[in-house]
Amino acid sequence: MKRIAVFGSGSGSNIENICNYFEKSNAISVSLICTNNRRSFLVTRAKKLGVPLHFTTKKDLNTFTKLQSLLNSFSIDYVILAGFLLKIPEKMVAYYKKRIINIHPSLLPKYGGKGMYGANVHKAVLNNNEVESGITIHFVNKYYDQGEVILQKKCFISKNETVSSLELKIKSLEGDFFPKTIENTIIKQCL
Ligand code: GAR
Repeated sequence: MKRIAVFGSGSGSNIENICNYFEKSNAISVSLICTNNRRSFLVTRAKKLGVPLHFTTKKDLNTFTKLQSLLNSFSIDYVILAGFLLKIPEKMVAYYKKRIINIHPSLLPKYGGKGMYGANVHKAVLNNNEVESGITIHFVNKYYDQGEVILQKKCFISKNETVSSLELKIKSLEGDFFPKTIENTIIKQCL
């Protein structure tokens, strides 16, 4: 059994999908949810899902000592970033080499980097009159949104697209592909 920790800062819709997807899995279990945002809706979701929830801070993330002990105490094998807005420090990237997976709501390398999250990404995409957008699932390295790509999926942008309609399309792709891609990646690495 591989044990994953899911990190988020926002509404937690991906976290909920991931928990539901792996609920009956014999291979992967969601063992911990971690957030830096006490006021995020994912706190409510985590309580409902019954998965242990840990609050972290930028400082604890960056020093990594306490967080590393916590992750080890839960025997965490993989870290999944699902709308987690803090930068992962180099120490943590090295410790979980090729075992931290992030989802980004654009076709990287376009619309990645600091400040590019959630609706900011969709606004920038629409402002540039793009005809398509999509999702990127990738390994995390020490640079924002620059690690090796695992999977990309596209969606088309319609004439009357708005930030919220694009967000819905992106969330739908995330729901369809993120949990399955996590599963495939972990299984492939364990073969
Ligand atoms: C998701 O769309 C995810 O791709 C994005 O934040 C949203 C979180 O939604 N991540 C980033 O923008 C990372 N740079 P959720 O909290 O409902 O899962």
